[in-house]
Amino acid sequence: MKSLSKKVDKIEESQTIAITSLAKKLRAEGKNIITLSAGEPDFPTPEHVKLAAIKAIQENFTKYTQNEGTPELREAIATKLHNDNHIDVKASNILVSNGGKHSIFNALQAICNPGDEVIVPAPYWVSFPEMVKLADATPVIFKAREENGFTFDANDLRPLLSSKTKAIILNSPNNPSGGVLSEEHLRGIARLAVENDFYIISDEIYEKVIYDGNVHFSIGSLDDVHDRVITANGVSKAYSMTGWRIGFIAANEEIISRAAKVQSQMTSNASSISQAAALEAIRGDQSEVEKMRVAFQRRRDILVDKLSRIGGVSLKKPGGAFYLFPSIKNLLGRRYEGKVIRNSIDVSRFLLEKAQVAVVPGIAFGSDEHVRISYAYAEKDLVEAAGRIASAISALK
Ligand SMILES: Cc1ncc(COP(=O)(O)O)c(C=O)c1O
Repeated sequence: MKSLSKKVDKIEESQTIAITSLAKKLRAEGKNIITLSAGEPDFPTPEHVKLAAIKAIQENFTKYTQNEGTPELREAIATKLHNDNHIDVKASNILVSNGGKHSIFNALQAICNPGDEVIVPAPYWVSFPEMVKLADATPVIFKAREENGFTFDANDLRPLLSSKTKAIILNSPNNPSGGVLSEEHLRGIARLAVENDFYIISDEIYEKVIYDGNVHFSIGSLDDVHDRVITANGVSKAYSMTGWRIGFIAANEEIISRAAKVQSQMTSNASSISQAAALEAIRGDQSEVEKMRVAFQRRRDILVDKLSRIGGVSLKKPGGAFYLFPSIKNLLGRRYEGKVIRNSIDVSRFLLEKAQVAVVPGIAFGSDEHVRISYAYAEKDLVEAAGRIASAISALK
């Protein structure tokens, strides 16, 4: 038979499959596994948002909408971007898609050509490099330094630039590190983009999950780069709406019309019902967002306090999102049950087998010396998990 798609051959298989299936197996055997691997808030979607969706169904708002999203939702997103992010855009600069992931995928399809390079700072969200490849471009990985809280500035990026550089993907607050880029650094990166003529995809999906009085800064608010920034966001994390699948991008109209063209031939509009819910989430009462943020900050403090007392694990308090990305470098080379721990997959396997705690190996995010721990869980589970991790590690040879 003829060979199948070469493009798909270039996409990485999920490197966490082995760990996920081991977790499933142990759970099926009746083991009490604490899972700290999810990338979604554990809170329910706010009640008023759910009611808006029910109303949409009852009013038969259940047909195709405009491909780009309903006029009301696009207008509400433009207003939100103006008020929260100081980005001045019109409804025609917005494309609503099936989740933040789809939004970034469309953005890359809209701007990339074969041979283009896209800078992806590591640690990165697992999908960025693969989505770049699916857009026929090449991801150029830049390793952000841990001692700087995984942040970076224009000078760090300069050596990676070439005539092929088409874009950079920024993600602040960051998944998996929780790192937050400062306004000063973002201003420097914006200048670099103008000098070297590249686009900026700014994934701001964790903008509302930010701590210690920090204020999220949107690079798209800077006049000089207004036309070359694609701001990506969505309702998944801020409103605990991961299952509703609503994301959006804001960009110049040419980029929006290209991205919309891709979407029109691929999925058409995002769910009409979810769009009605997202409209209520964005326009309605915001008090649940703040309650979740406060709860996440408390959980972060509890878990950082517990984990930083464990010898062999080192971490800094992250400024946003709901993940810790501790270094496990000092555990490498140590042994359990005669087996040497060589990398982040081994550490995750060890924690699963010995502590019965599921975390995600850092290799999935571009670092084999870290693991990602999500704290989108109840405080009692976090405390219990930290205790189990401490005693498992203390038994390592
Ligand atoms: C950094 C980052 N960007 C985008 C997304 C995509 O979110 P959505 O569920 O809206 O597709 C995620 C989800 O985990 C994420 O962590």
